[in-house]
Amino acid sequence: MNIEEAKKILGREFGFTVDFANMILQDLKLSKDAKILDIGTGIGNLAIMLALNGYKVVTGEPEEDDSTYAKQDWLVNAKKVNVSHLIEFKHFDAKDTPFEGNTFDAIFFLGSLHHIEKEDHEKVLKECTRISKSNGVICIFEPNAKGIKLIKNFNASHPDAADPSEYAKDFNLSLRKIEGDFFDAFTFGGKWNK
Ligand SMILES: C[S@@+](CC[C@H](N)C(=O)[O-])C[C@H]1O[C@@H](n2cnc3c(N)ncnc32)[C@H](O)[C@@H]1O
Repeated sequence: MNIEEAKKILGREFGFTVDFANMILQDLKLSKDAKILDIGTGIGNLAIMLALNGYKVVTGEPEEDDSTYAKQDWLVNAKKVNVSHLIEFKHFDAKDTPFEGNTFDAIFFLGSLHHIEKEDHEKVLKECTRISKSNGVICIFEPNAKGIKLIKNFNASHPDAADPSEYAKDFNLSLRKIEGDFFDAFTFGGKWNK
């Protein structure tokens, strides 16, 4: 199934971010057998978009997360668009994941970093550099001012966005920022300072 058909089935919540995330994905030119991790499953939008592109995806969130953002119906959505077989779910905390070092070609966050305590962001980034392959990419989508305003119209207590660019220098990572309508993409690559 293509993304346009999936948008019709999954509706506005999927359509809100998928076109921009898909454009960034195409630009990364990952190989079809790339090892991909999606941090923060939520409703599954990013994992589903990756799977609609034919990628196998590992995705997860902490088992103990009882917020409204976790334990959502991502599997129901993945089944509706016939991609559940490409998505493997695992419970994990981004600060201390169960994955071996040098595992992933690409690690994605879509609207997840700001749901992780700011004091833990450096630890999370450090863990990402550990589990990333040395030529891998870490791609973080965070809502911009327009996106946050829209989200807060539905949920006033939603946290503010994070600014991943704060961490590029600490980890000696090259950073490319691409601005979208509601989300911006921060893509880290280069020589990891492991
Ligand atoms: C708004 S949802 C993300 C939306 C999702 N990426 C999508 O594409 O639909 C935020 C996610 O971050 C996850 N999260 C919060 N703290 C986390 C942590 N320490 N490690 C991994 N995931 C975490 C939550 O459990 C939730 O799945």
